[in-house]
Amino acid sequence: MKDILQELERRRGEARLGGGQRRIDAQHARGKLTARERIELLLDEESFEEFDMFVAHRSTDFGIEADRPYGDGVVTGWGTINGRMVYVFSQDFTVFGGSLSETHAQKICKIMDMAMQNGAPVIGLNDSGGARIQEGVASLAGYADVFQRNIMASGVIPQISVIMGPCAGGAVYSPAMTDFIFMVQDTSYMFVTGPDVVKTVTNEVVTAEQLGGASTHTRKSSVADGAFRDDVEALSEIRRLFDFLPLNNREKAPTRPFFDDPARIEPSLDTLIPDNPNQPYDMKELIAKIADEGDFYEIQKDFAGNIIVGFIRIEGQTVGVVANQPMVLAGCLDIDSSRKAARFVRFCDAFEIPILTLVDVPGFLPGTGQEYGGVIKHGAKLLFAYGEATVPKVTVITRKAYGGAYDVMASKHLRGDFNYAWPTAEIAVMGAKGAVEILYRSELDQPEKIAARTKDYEDRFANPFVAAEKGFIDEVIQPRSTRKRVARAFASLRGKQLANPWKKHDNIPL
Ligand code: HXC
Repeated sequence: MKDILQELERRRGEARLGGGQRRIDAQHARGKLTARERIELLLDEESFEEFDMFVAHRSTDFGIEADRPYGDGVVTGWGTINGRMVYVFSQDFTVFGGSLSETHAQKICKIMDMAMQNGAPVIGLNDSGGARIQEGVASLAGYADVFQRNIMASGVIPQISVIMGPCAGGAVYSPAMTDFIFMVQDTSYMFVTGPDVVKTVTNEVVTAEQLGGASTHTRKSSVADGAFRDDVEALSEIRRLFDFLPLNNREKAPTRPFFDDPARIEPSLDTLIPDNPNQPYDMKELIAKIADEGDFYEIQKDFAGNIIVGFIRIEGQTVGVVANQPMVLAGCLDIDSSRKAARFVRFCDAFEIPILTLVDVPGFLPGTGQEYGGVIKHGAKLLFAYGEATVPKVTVITRKAYGGAYDVMASKHLRGDFNYAWPTAEIAVMGAKGAVEILYRSELDQPEKIAARTKDYEDRFANPFVAAEKGFIDEVIQPRSTRKRVARAFASLRGKQLANPWKKHDNIPL
């Protein structure tokens, strides 16, 4: 009996070594942790239960049959994050570069199936050279099996991908179908084809970092939702994000203990809006003052800064925030900001997370760049996402709400539940200057007349009261009491029930 137990431990020890000490050292030398070290940091201490530790590949081509390491390049299982269940796979770069074989894929599929059955999220720690070259079509099939599960799980359980090494080919498409992708600066890359192939096909000379590093994907392509300094920071930030999310689409997000008075009054907000309507201010200040303990988890902070999205808690409950940012492009909507916010709104709606929308928007960004890029269709994504969302929706207009952008930003007309405005709100088709130039073109050479017309327009429209008269604004509120009003609004909506008509699925303008 003792021998058998020793044999088990010997085999376990071998499995834990993955591709061997030399490759583990190489992984460390690059500033990367191993697959198992990452799981240890991600999950609660001692909570990890591993599956399939002894799985080995069954391939016989290119002499690979002589090398059959336990685990086959991925560590899978489940554990907890702050006591809540999660399934995890962590690719082991020390085994065939973390490449995906038929059996490697089967291990991932197994935990994805269990996650779906048991209603718990999946976190994938990706560090993979893509399809295992020696296995050919078997590994492509394995990828497709994972993709199909990503698709079925979408909107049912949260799926989070962390890119922690070079991820090429198929290794990027599975993350692409998950809810969030995070990267690690300087050690992670994502590309469909690497720099060498790019050079051969297009003659472009580009480094891996330029082609698919964290900066590229968080600032240019928007493929990634954020990037962290190193593995340790990435994993601790994923734990933080996890706490905001529900386990599945049938459960609510967890309520965390809070020590911040929901009725907290913030007199400083009364002077947040500058006297000059063309002067910017930082919308993040308002978000921090509404949130419990000022805690805000921002998503895609380095992309399309004219809109801010992320999670806060109010009375301990998760709320998704979408806010125009007057500091960037005057807070206008454009292609990038519409896409960014639309995806976020749909995530919140899929997982029953209420949405707070803070509005200061001068309209859609004009120009050929926008029109040729399809701003009509991309702007429609956000409009569509808000309109179909059935979760509680609370909106606060702080200043400008002009034109179509007024409609789009969770207006009353898109089934906003509480639509508040500050007294500084201006709700109109456009700003006074633009309006007067169109309506009184023949008087443009008479400055005094134009000034009087502008004043007249401002008096009539540069306020929230016309909209309030019509019931499009439920109440004009004091800026200082915003947290209290918003908290009470969400509290009153906890039992909200609203369903869209039956359909197979919608046809959002992709
Ligand atoms: C088998 C692989 C592998 C792969 C790497 N390795 N990628 N083994 N299949 N796809 C092995 C290497 O042979 C090496 O083994 C070890 O992993 C580490 O690789 P290195 O090249 O030494 O590391 P590094 O210099 O850091 O480069 C990492 C890399 C590079 C950028 C990932 O290995 C690379 O470009 N690999 C190929 C990427 C690729 O083209 N994949 C196929 C994509 S097509 P030893 O024994 O020396 O440690 C695809 C199709 C799916 O994925 C499509 C679905 C839609």
